[in-house]
Amino acid sequence: MENTLEINIKNLEETEKLAGIIAKIVENTGGLICLYGDIGSGKTTFVKYLAKFLDVKEKVTSPSFVILNEYHSGKISIYHFDLYRLEKGGIETVLDELHEYTENENALAIIEWAEFSSGDLPEERLEIEIKYIDENQREFLLKAFGNKSKILLEKIKEIILLQEKL
Ligand SMILES: Nc1ncnc2c1ncn2[C@@H]1O[C@H](COP(=O)(O)OP(=O)(O)OP(=O)(O)O)[C@@H](O)[C@H]1O
Ligand SMILES: [Mg+2]
Repeated sequence: MENTLEINIKNLEETEKLAGIIAKIVENTGGLICLYGDIGSGKTTFVKYLAKFLDVKEKVTSPSFVILNEYHSGKISIYHFDLYRLEKGGIETVLDELHEYTENENALAIIEWAEFSSGDLPEERLEIEIKYIDENQREFLLKAFGNKSKILLEKIKEIILLQEKL
């Protein structure tokens, strides 16, 4: 079982489809998704689509200034973090909350700029790195850590294989 998956995305619609597939799986499990990628690579865009497929009714906005946005109107609760502006001390306080949220299977925690959390992330997580290729194309690299997340990634692979392409 290889714990990574690389997907070439041609446009926004394909990013949306991938978010739809991942939403279908995490709606039953919750968990933690860490998003990596340069400014403007598409982390928040991906979260917006994920929230859409999880039936979030509120408008989803970037948490860069507020650090955390919560959405409770969808199929599961979403805690959307952006650690870009946090100092080390601040990160320690949000990590306590994060560990609490990720223990709840009815909650999905998502972190943008998780590289700023200095190694204290919960083991059980799905990492998604988004690489900018050109204006519309991206490469998504999915990596699973922890047994539950590895199973989750296998399910994502199965669905993508069944569809043959996105
Ligand atoms: N295939 C694609 N997937 C995702 N975003 C895309 C794609 N094609 C174009 N875009 C555009 O790229 C931009 C991504 O911006 P977004 O705010 O999601 O980036 P971000 O990674 O969250 O940046 P930041 O680090 O500032 O939070 C959006 O304007 C989006 O419409
Ligand atoms: Mg963002």
